[in-house]
Amino acid sequence: MTADEQKRAAGEAAAALVEAGMVVGLGTGSTAAWFVKALARRQLDIRGVPTSDATANLARELGIALAALDDVKRVDLTVDGADEVGPGLSLIKGGGAALLREKLVWEASNRCVVIADAAKQVAALGKFPLPIEVVRFGYVHTGQRLADIAAEFDLPPPRLRMADRGVVVTDGGNVIYDMGSNLIAEPAALGLALKSVTGVVDHGLFLDLADEALIGTDQGVVRLTP
Ligand code: A5P
Repeated sequence: MTADEQKRAAGEAAAALVEAGMVVGLGTGSTAAWFVKALARRQLDIRGVPTSDATANLARELGIALAALDDVKRVDLTVDGADEVGPGLSLIKGGGAALLREKLVWEASNRCVVIADAAKQVAALGKFPLPIEVVRFGYVHTGQRLADIAAEFDLPPPRLRMADRGVVVTDGGNVIYDMGSNLIAEPAALGLALKSVTGVVDHGLFLDLADEALIGTDQGVVRLTP
C-alpha cells in the first residue's frame, strides 16, 4: 500500500466513528482530507468545526454543514492527522501550519482520534521539525529566544518557514518556526519552555490530547490507545 492509500484507509475508518447529531472537529492535511471526504459521503446530519480555512473550503464544497468553534459548547469528536505519532500517542503536528486552530479544537473535544499512515509512527518524537507559531511583531527577536531554547534542549536552531512566495503566514496571521530535527528527549519540558516565550502563540507538541490513533498499515487499520 502507498502512504496515500494508508491515509485513506485510516480516514475512512475514522469516518465510521461519526454518528448523526454530532459536532465533529475536522482536522487539516492530506489524511484529514480523506476523512472529510468519507464523512461527506455518509450524508449524516452533523456539524463540522474546521481547523483551517483549507478544510473549511473542502467541507463546504462537499456539503458538510459548518460551525465556528465558538458556536458550539463542546465538540463530540475530532479527527485529525499528525506529522509524528510517538509513545503514549504524543504527537507532533503543524506541518500544514494549522497547529493553533487544531489545538484549540482538540482541547474543546470530548474525544480526539488521530489518523495517520504507518510511516508517522515513531519510537521517539523529534525527527520531524517541531512547528512553533509566533506572532509577526518582533518575530526575529522571538526566533533568537527560540534558538536559545533549542540549544538548551540539544536541538538544532529553528528556521523560519518559507514558501515560494515568501514567509509562510498562518490562517491566524502568524509565522512559523520549525525547530530542528533531532530527538526530543523531554517533550513536556520543551513544550513548557516554548510556551513561556511571549511571542510564541503555540507549538506543535500535542501531549495527552489524543484518545486513540487509527494507523493505516499494509495489514489494515490498526487502532492504538495511549
Ligand atoms: C496540519 O497543520 C498538520 O497538523 C497535519 O495534520 C499534519 O501535518 C499531517 O498532515 P498530512 O496528513 O498531510 O500528513
